[in-house]
Amino acid sequence: MDKLQIIGGNRLSGEIEISGAKNAALEIIPAVILSDNVCRIENVPDITDIHAMIEILIAMGAKVNYIDRTTVEIDPRPIDTYIAPSELARNIRGSYYFLGALLGRSRHALVAMPGGCDIGTRPIDQHLKGFTALGANYRYIRDTVDDVVNISVEVEAKKLTGDNIYLDVVTVGATINIMLAAVRADGITVIENAAREPHIVDLANFLNSMGADVRGAGTDVIKIRGKKHLHSADYSIIPDQIEAGTYMVAAAATGGNVLIRNVIPKHLESITSKLEETGAEVVEFDDSVRVSAAGRPHRCNIKTMPHPGFPTDMQPQMAVLLSLADGTSHINESIWDNRFKYVEELRKMGAKIEVRGNVAQISGVRSLYGADLYATDLRAGAAMVIAGLCADGETTIGKIHYIERGYECLTEKLLRAGAQIQRVSLPDPADL
Ligand code: EPU
Repeated sequence: MDKLQIIGGNRLSGEIEISGAKNAALEIIPAVILSDNVCRIENVPDITDIHAMIEILIAMGAKVNYIDRTTVEIDPRPIDTYIAPSELARNIRGSYYFLGALLGRSRHALVAMPGGCDIGTRPIDQHLKGFTALGANYRYIRDTVDDVVNISVEVEAKKLTGDNIYLDVVTVGATINIMLAAVRADGITVIENAAREPHIVDLANFLNSMGADVRGAGTDVIKIRGKKHLHSADYSIIPDQIEAGTYMVAAAATGGNVLIRNVIPKHLESITSKLEETGAEVVEFDDSVRVSAAGRPHRCNIKTMPHPGFPTDMQPQMAVLLSLADGTSHINESIWDNRFKYVEELRKMGAKIEVRGNVAQISGVRSLYGADLYATDLRAGAAMVIAGLCADGETTIGKIHYIERGYECLTEKLLRAGAQIQRVSLPDPADL
C-alpha cells in the first residue's frame, strides 16, 4: 500500500511551479467533442482525474495523441456513440460534463451518475432543469450488477432551443453543463445566477476559440448564441488556483518563503487576503506570488462561498494553518454538507477542532505531532500533507490515490522546495 511519508519541520523555500487547472481541464476535455475537428489542448495537468476523462474519450472512439506530458491532441470525429461507458464514468465526478457535451453534439447522452469525493450530497437537479429548459427530456436508469445498484442519466432532445434559465443555487457544474449544451442549440440561452469561477471563464474562452458565441462568463449572467458548427482550436488551460493556494498555505504554515510560479494572482485574491490576515506576507508579480511567514499565525474566521468568495476547496488546508494559530478561529462551510471528515485525522496530530453542523471551531495549538493518517478526500489529503510538513516527527498518509486525483507531481514539487517527503510502500496496519 503506497503512502506518503513526511518528516516535518522544514521551512519550504525556493520555487514551486503550478500546473494546469484540474477543474478547467475536466470541462474543456469533454467540450472538445462539440468541435467538428481536431483540438490541441496545452497545460493539461498530468493527474489521475484527467487520465480518467481521456480514457472515457478513447472508449467513445475519439483519437487521442499526447504530444508531450501536458499537451494533447483530440480528434472527436470518430465518436459515434451517445454513451459514456459507465464503468469509467462512474469513477469520476467530471464525467457528468459528457451529459451537456453529448447533448450539444448529438442531442442524446447517457452517462452513469458520477463518483468523485464524498464531501456531501451532490444533486444534479439544476443541470437537469437547464437541459429541460433547452427542450430535452431525461430519465434515470437503474441497473444492478453484483448486488450494487448503479444509476445512470439519459438525456435526449429532438431539438435544442435556447431559453432563459435561472439557477436556484449558484452551481459550477450546472453552469458548465448548460453552457456545453447551449453552444450548439438554436437561438440564445441566458443563464442567470451563474457561477463565476475562473474555470467557467476558461471554458467560455475555449468555446469561443472554437467559434462559439459566449458572453458574460465571470459575471452571474452568461449569454450564449448557439452555433451549428464549432471548429478546431489550440488552447492552453489556466493555472490551477487551488493547487497554487495549497502551496501558498504550505509556505505560510511552515514559516517558509516560496515563489509560486505560473499563477494568475487575481484568481488567488481571496486566499491571499486570508493569508495576510494570518500574518503571512504575499507579494504579487505578473504571473507569480511570493509567500513568506514567520512566527505563529494569527487567528481568523473564514466562510466558504462561491467565487469570488473563499473557495471551499481551500478550507481543509486553511484549517491546518489555523490549527497552529494564536487563538480560536471559526470556519463556516457553506457549500458542502460533509467536508469536515478530515478533522478526525488532524486531531490525531494534536489539533483542537470541534465541529458543530457546518462550523468548525479551531483552538490554535503551538505544535502538531506526526501521526499515521488516511486521506479522506482530495483536498483533505492535501491538508494532511501540509499538517505533516509542519508537525514534529514523522507523518504517514494512506489512501493517496485521492491526492493524486488533483495534484501533479506533489512529492517532487515539495522535495524541490526543501520538504522531506517520499512515496513509500508500507504495510497497512489493518493487515498486520
Ligand atoms: N447543487 C445543487 N444542485 C445541483 C448542483 C449543485 O443543489 O444541480 C449544490 C451542491 O449540492 C452544492 C452547491 O450546489 O451544495 C455547489 O455545487 P457545484 O455544482 O458548484 O459543485 P460541483 O460542480 O459539483 C465543483 C468542483 C468541486 C468544488 C465545487 C465548488 C469539479 C469537478 N468539482 O463541484 O471541486 O468544490 O465546484 O467550487 O469541478 C475539488 O476539486 O476538490 C472539488 C470537490
